[in-house]
Amino acid sequence: MHFDILTLFPGMFKGVFEESIIKRARETGLVSITIHNIRDYATGKHKITDDYPYGGGGGMVMKPEPIFRAVESILGLKEGEKPNVPVILLTPQGRLFSQEVAWELAQHKRIVLICGHYEGVDERVRIHLANDEISIGDYVLTGGEIPAMVIVDAVTRLIPGVLGDPTAVFEDSFTDGLLEYPHYTRPADFRGYKVPEVLLSGNHAAIAQWRREQSLLRTWQRRPDLLKKARLTEADREFLQRLAEGKDSMESRT
Ligand code: ADE
Repeated sequence: MHFDILTLFPGMFKGVFEESIIKRARETGLVSITIHNIRDYATGKHKITDDYPYGGGGGMVMKPEPIFRAVESILGLKEGEKPNVPVILLTPQGRLFSQEVAWELAQHKRIVLICGHYEGVDERVRIHLANDEISIGDYVLTGGEIPAMVIVDAVTRLIPGVLGDPTAVFEDSFTDGLLEYPHYTRPADFRGYKVPEVLLSGNHAAIAQWRREQSLLRTWQRRPDLLKKARLTEADREFLQRLAEGKDSMESRT
């Protein structure tokens, strides 16, 4: 997977992409990331990348020319030629990012991310250059850089080989539409706070059932909205039914 990130603030990406799992994924060649400074594609002595909004009002708007030139140059496109890879504009007005969208993006070989800043990006970038718009949540950030980092992070860990445990991504919260079960490690007794007995039992079937029920319980308690779309078995439905009838309390399960 190759990510091209277009930004006015390349320095923001230092650190985030140079540590931990993303660092290792880059070193092993499973992922490559190029940060492009939009200013490098601006023309004129002052390399201007923003300008006042037509119609007046506060704030500055990112100019279209440097962004078009950057994307066309990076993808080797002729002027006006449409990109054949996702060119995603990060904006609070985009479709909402989710685990499902991360899986969808992970199927591509190359993704271009355009980080907006200031009051916004000239609308012609959205209409004639980008082919997707993504928001990472219903709040407004100072720019698209942190959203781009979020997307790169969430997509990278889904690429086969990136995580040490290849089954881990299938057990993630959200992947089957449920929140994840709780995790414990040693010691079994920390200040009198004990690890649930079943996890020490060595009974794999009982552990699997406990984890599934914990997943269902957590989702039911914290994000009942997710249950509507979750992939549930008959046993799951029966367990949820018992929860709804008050027969399985949080206390009896943990
Ligand atoms: N730019 C500013 N806020 C944003 C958000 N929530 N998602 C994506 N891009 C943004």
